[in-house]
Amino acid sequence: MKALHVAEVGPDDADDVLAVVRRAFGARPPLDPPSTALDETPESVATTLSTVGGVLVRRNGDLPVGALLLDTSRLGLLGLRRVSVDPAHQGHGVASAMVGLAEDIAEARGLDGVWLTARAELPDNVTFWLRRGYVETARTGPVLELAKALWVAAPAATATDTQALGVRLSRLLRPGDLLVLTGGLGAGKTTLTQGIGTGLGVREAVTSPTFVIAREHRTVDGSPALVHADAYRLGGIAELDDLDLDSSLADSVTVVEWGQGLAEGLAEAWLDVRLELLTAGGARALAAAGPDRGGAPAMSVPAVADVSEARVVSVRPHGARWATARIRSTLLAAD
Ligand SMILES: Nc1ncnc2c1ncn2[C@@H]1O[C@H](COP(=O)(O)OP(=O)(O)OP(=O)(O)O)[C@@H](O)[C@H]1O
Ligand SMILES: [Mg+2]
Repeated sequence: MKALHVAEVGPDDADDVLAVVRRAFGARPPLDPPSTALDETPESVATTLSTVGGVLVRRNGDLPVGALLLDTSRLGLLGLRRVSVDPAHQGHGVASAMVGLAEDIAEARGLDGVWLTARAELPDNVTFWLRRGYVETARTGPVLELAKALWVAAPAATATDTQALGVRLSRLLRPGDLLVLTGGLGAGKTTLTQGIGTGLGVREAVTSPTFVIAREHRTVDGSPALVHADAYRLGGIAELDDLDLDSSLADSVTVVEWGQGLAEGLAEAWLDVRLELLTAGGARALAAAGPDRGGAPAMSVPAVADVSEARVVSVRPHGARWATARIRSTLLAAD
């Protein structure tokens, strides 16, 4: 097993980065339109590395075998360009190591996700990204744009904080959106939904829909209606179908408590939202992890006064709808 060393690099490594880019892109079949990667020069690479950065993978101590350049031209997202693996060193996890670090860099920079373009003529390449959770967000001829939103975990010291997270989450929501809420009895699923309702402009009280199973709340200001369902007592997918959530889905924001394993089938995209009790150890771990690990901003954790009430709310996006959404920054905003 030969060791890989992956690191963020600056302009001093421009020659090694360029060498890998030339080996990787030089070995590709001719594409139409051709990639501009082979137009890169030591100067252009050095400029990118000093202004936005890049990643280099070395094998056995020094041999450069993988490289990519970063791009910050899109608000809230980290772009990956010139993603290159030396053809003689494929199949050793070089690309995975590079992309893993690039995603960590995106988190550390407080960004919401990662994007790149890939060529439809290189299906193995496309498959690599799809396996890592990237989804197609646009296509121009043979050029696919792929993106992936990072997941986020936010602490909620009290029920009020959980409601406030719901209000924040509501800012991202539009008709057709589906949220699947998971967490034990009393974890705070309904409490979070109350915040979503407040944010959407629902006037009446949002309460547990357990006995009616699904309830539609109208909003006052043109926001989508909130459809709030509780799948706790449902026997399975057939009973979920009986609720006829599909008929209101397109025009509403649909929130399903206890819907994990059932409700995801209702739409092509959804937010998997989990509420967990935050133990004292968990609070410390979240603080130590900091924002760069999908954790909370360190400064908000001392606010967790009574850990018996504290929850951690995590949001995992699925589907193209969310791939470039600003989920992390919206939930972790300092306001
Ligand atoms: N940090 C917190 N976040 C959310 N709720 C909290 C928090 N701390 C205490 N609570 C209390 O915990 C209870 C959560 O109840 P809620 O009905 O929201 O849970 P639920 O997950 O919907 O439960 P069920 O599975 O029964 O539907 C409320 O009484 C709330 O006031
Ligand atoms: Mg509930």
